[in-house]
Amino acid sequence: MERWNGRVALVTGASAGIGAGLCRVLVQRGMLVVGCARSVDKIKAIAEEDEVKNSPGKLIAYRCDLSQESEILSMFDEIRKTCGRLDVCINNAGLSHNAPLLSGTTAEWRNMLDVNVMALCICTQEAVKLMREKGIHDGQIIHISSMGGHRIPAMSGANFYCGTKFMVRALTEGLRRELKALKSHIRISSISPGMVETEFFDHFLKNDPTRKASDLFSSMKALQSDDIAESVLYILRAPPHVEVHDILLRPYDQAT
Ligand SMILES: NC(=O)c1ccc[n+]([C@@H]2O[C@H](COP(=O)([O-])OP(=O)(O)OC[C@H]3O[C@@H](n4cnc5c(N)ncnc54)[C@H](OP(=O)(O)O)[C@@H]3O)[C@@H](O)[C@H]2O)c1
Repeated sequence: MERWNGRVALVTGASAGIGAGLCRVLVQRGMLVVGCARSVDKIKAIAEEDEVKNSPGKLIAYRCDLSQESEILSMFDEIRKTCGRLDVCINNAGLSHNAPLLSGTTAEWRNMLDVNVMALCICTQEAVKLMREKGIHDGQIIHISSMGGHRIPAMSGANFYCGTKFMVRALTEGLRRELKALKSHIRISSISPGMVETEFFDHFLKNDPTRKASDLFSSMKALQSDDIAESVLYILRAPPHVEVHDILLRPYDQAT
């Protein structure tokens, strides 16, 4: 990890769940972390936590609605101006509406496509551009995908979401090939978790009076944000000749 000391990471979806956990861990490892989301006050509150404030690194909170391309581009302008470089880009922000293919709304589908796919692609393109502009040859892109990008669970409301994560899986391999064609040493990895205990299912079930996210988590020990952070550290620690492609991990008790 020493080689990342003092270097700059962008974590999208930093206000909650996996992204918030990643910000804490990377700041503790000495990185300058730009955390973005719409709820910027929640990221500012994380930056004020004792364990974060007393860390060798620093967390900068940035407000960005990732469904708006112009806001993503402004954020990269700001990173270029204030940090002068970018070494690691973690495309973590993502969501699922409960929006089946036969009854979901196009607004819900479009929002998932915008955040889970388009923002991930725009951030990646801008990150690689900035890395190459600054001569950073050992940069790292990490997509937080899902087990939903590897198989379709029996949850019709998540079918479109799984479609977006199948895309992330294809985009991971596509980017790997484009980077190889450039003879770049910037690496691309993805992480595909099963169920993680975050706010994700509160949003998914928000219009369902019959089910609560807390019931899901009382029925099994889900993965925790720290488990995903461990996978990120594994990727960042990999020696230069190793490119981790995709880490699949489930809670032990998850059958599907
Ligand atoms: N939890 C799981 O079981 C699970 C399993 C597999 C994969 N994942 C993946 O893990 C990633 C993180 O999810 P999580 O579980 O940590 O969920 P979470 O607790 O709901 O956090 C989602 C994050 O995404 C951000 N976000 C959503 N829409 C955004 C937008 N338009 N602009 C900017 N930020 C936006 C949210 O911030 P704001 O609302 O403040 O904007 C929040 O910080 C996602 O890609 C998800 O698909 C989760």
